[in-house]
Amino acid sequence: MAFDPLQERGIPLDDQLRDWRELNVTPIDPDHADPYTRCRIIAMNGIEVEAILFSHQFARHCPDVELKRQLAQVRYIESQQQKAVNWLLPGAASVLETTIAYEQVAVDLTAWVARMEPDPYLSKAYEFGVLEDFDHLYRYANLYEMIEHRKAEKIVDQLTEVMPGRPTYLHHRDGMDNVREPYRRSVTEPLSRLHALTITAAEQQTMNFYMNVGPMHMEPIARRLYQEIGLIEEEHVTHYESLVDPGESWWERLLNHEYNECYLYYSFMETESDPRVKRIWELHLGMELEHLRLAAELFKRFDGRDPDQVLAPALPPPVTFEPNKAYLRDLLATQIDHTTLGTGYVREAHERFTRMQEAIMGGEKPPSEQVIDDNRAISGQDYRLEMAVPHPAGLQRSP
Ligand SMILES: [Fe+2]
Ligand SMILES: [Fe+2]
Ligand SMILES: [Fe+2]
Ligand SMILES: [Fe+2]
Repeated sequence: MAFDPLQERGIPLDDQLRDWRELNVTPIDPDHADPYTRCRIIAMNGIEVEAILFSHQFARHCPDVELKRQLAQVRYIESQQQKAVNWLLPGAASVLETTIAYEQVAVDLTAWVARMEPDPYLSKAYEFGVLEDFDHLYRYANLYEMIEHRKAEKIVDQLTEVMPGRPTYLHHRDGMDNVREPYRRSVTEPLSRLHALTITAAEQQTMNFYMNVGPMHMEPIARRLYQEIGLIEEEHVTHYESLVDPGESWWERLLNHEYNECYLYYSFMETESDPRVKRIWELHLGMELEHLRLAAELFKRFDGRDPDQVLAPALPPPVTFEPNKAYLRDLLATQIDHTTLGTGYVREAHERFTRMQEAIMGGEKPPSEQVIDDNRAISGQDYRLEMAVPHPAGLQRSP
C-alpha cells in the first residue's frame, strides 16, 4: 500500500529528545562506505539545516508567543537530527574530499529531480543547473589531484563521471538573469513543490559550506577556486529558490517543509544500503511524522484549508541516488552552450552576460581555468573519470 505520511503515527514530541550517548553516532568508514550513503547523509544534512533556518525565519515573523514556543520545541529536535546526521561524516575526510562529495550530491540528486519533474519549465531549470555542478566536480577533482595527490574516483567511485561540463567561467551571470518564474501554487503538482525545496536546500548548504571552508586552505589556487565556485552557488540558490511561489503562506511553507522531510527520510530508508544508517533514517522518519501532524494542525487552524488540498495523496516514488551517466551525457550534447536571459534560456552570449563576464574576469584567467592548467603542468594531463563512451559535445582535450 502507498505510504501516506498524514495517516501514519509518529513518535510523540515529548519522546523525541536524545541524550549525548544517543547523539554520539559512529561515523561511516571513509574507505569502505557506499558513496551514495555519503550522498544521502550530505543531502539530508542540507534538508535539516533548511528546516532549522526556515523555522528561525518563521519565528522572527511570528508575533504569537505560544506559536513561537512550539516552533522552538520542534526546531530543537530538528537541530538534534542535524547533529546526528552530519556527524555520520568521518573526520578523516579532508575538506576537499567532502567538497567533491557535495558536488556529487548536486550532480546525481539534481539529475534525478530533473528526470522526475513533471513540469517542463521546472525540469529545464534543473537540467540547466546540473551541467554547472557537473563542471564544478571536474574543477575540484583537478585541484584534489594537484594538492592532495589523490584521484576523485576514490570518492565518487565509478558512479559519477568526472569531465568538463558547461565551463565554470561561463556561470558568472548578471543577477538579473538568475531569477526564474515561480510555479503557481494553485495549479502545480505537489511533487514540484518538494523538488524545488530539496534542490534549494542542497544548493544553500553548498553555498554556505564554500563560504566558510574556502579560506581554510593554504594553497592560493584552492582559496581562489572556492571563491569562484562559492559565488556560483549563490547564483544557484537564487535560481532554484525563485521557482517557489512566494504567495505560499508561512503555514503552507511549514507544512511543505515537514512533508518533504518525511518524503526524504522515507526515500532514504527505502534505498539505504548501510543498515546502521538506515536505522537513523527510520528513527527520524518517525519524528518527522509527528512534526508533520503538528504542522498540519497549524495549517488547518490558521490557513483554514485542509492539508489534502496542497499535499499529494501518498508519497511519490522514493528519491534515489543512482548513476545518471547517460542522461548527463545527453544533456551535455544538447545544452552545454545555454545561458539565461531574463527568466528564459538562450544560446548566444547577450550583452548583459558579456558585460558581467568582462567585469568579473578583469582581463585575467579565472581560477577554474587556472586550476586545470596548473594540474596539467604537474600531472601531465587534466584529471578525468570517463567511462566507455567519449565526451558527447565534441570537446577536445586541450593541448
Ligand atoms: Fe528534521
Ligand atoms: Fe557546484
Ligand atoms: Fe550548485
Ligand atoms: Fe521536521
